[in-house]
Amino acid sequence: MPLIKIHGMIDPHTHLRDLDWTHKATFASETKAAIAGGYWAVFDMPNTAPSTVDEALLLDKAQRINRSAHCDWGLYFGASQADNTAEYEAIARRVCGLKIYNNSTTGDLLIDSSAMRERHYRAWTPSKLIAVHAEEETVSNILELVRKYRQPTHFLHISSEYEIKLLTRAKADGLPVTVGVCPHHLFLCEDDLPALGAYGLMKPELKRKSDQRALWRAIRLGVVDIIESDHAPHTIAEKESDTPPYGVPGLETTLPLMLQAAQEGRLPLQRACDMLSLNVQRIWRITPLPKTYTLVDTDASYLIERENLVSKCGWSPFEGKRVKGKVREVWIRGHKVYDGETVLCPPGFGRDLFGLVA
Ligand code: DOR
Ligand code: ZN
Repeated sequence: MPLIKIHGMIDPHTHLRDLDWTHKATFASETKAAIAGGYWAVFDMPNTAPSTVDEALLLDKAQRINRSAHCDWGLYFGASQADNTAEYEAIARRVCGLKIYNNSTTGDLLIDSSAMRERHYRAWTPSKLIAVHAEEETVSNILELVRKYRQPTHFLHISSEYEIKLLTRAKADGLPVTVGVCPHHLFLCEDDLPALGAYGLMKPELKRKSDQRALWRAIRLGVVDIIESDHAPHTIAEKESDTPPYGVPGLETTLPLMLQAAQEGRLPLQRACDMLSLNVQRIWRITPLPKTYTLVDTDASYLIERENLVSKCGWSPFEGKRVKGKVREVWIRGHKVYDGETVLCPPGFGRDLFGLVA
């Protein structure tokens, strides 16, 4: 069987929940799902309940994830509307980056004033990157700040042709920017909404076929640096409610979807693997660990189904889709942590990649 080896897969864009949202998911349940999805490490976003916006909240979260994580991990600090820039010096070295929400989504971390955005850009230390949620014209606003302050900036979940054009130009101008794209924007579009209903709702929203084509073109041209899942579990009851929240899970479907795409000739296989490992390590300046890799059988074909998912939320917008590429083994620091069926390491096995806990 054709096994391929991927060294150190990292998903730098996940919402693991826990804290006051354990009904949606927990650090234990989602880091387990990450390993089943082939990952060595995941970085958790700050729009938890409560939001990660001061040192005490950050350290509390770190203690909690440290006790429960199966895979290795990092945490983002959140820029807050109330101006928490005084905290930056103390925490910047110990997080994977600063997250700035510039468009609305789950949680209350929206920064919609340009003065406040600039304040955060000015105050942050460039030793770590700024990861931004920016959509459409907000991308231009942020690019102006990048031009002015030269802070390395990762544009999360880029989803439209317009945004890709702006970022292609920014890269050509030599700005320190990187681009992430999510599987849901690559494999789904607004035409899928009638069938998906609330299970197809996320931020940024599903776009037109033409936007989807622009994302694939940008992948082939090397404008897209990484594939990130934006794993955002919500319960089935919440999705079925009158006010369904935005977000879809993705930790267990990202790798097989990308491998399937590679086998269909939509991108080179090596590029697919690099966008899930090497490129993430490069952007976040992470040294890959020895004996930390994923073995995938690229011939094994299967249907994505609820019954097979480890994530606590128990559903996927890709249910019913056939993919080719099954995770057979995951190794972290010389330990076999997944055998293709079961996660073998205990909660607390996962280590902090950025030094928040001693
Ligand atoms: O759809 C989304 N859900 N987009 C985000 O930016 C946040 C996420 C969540 O936390 O649910
Ligand atoms: Zn997100």
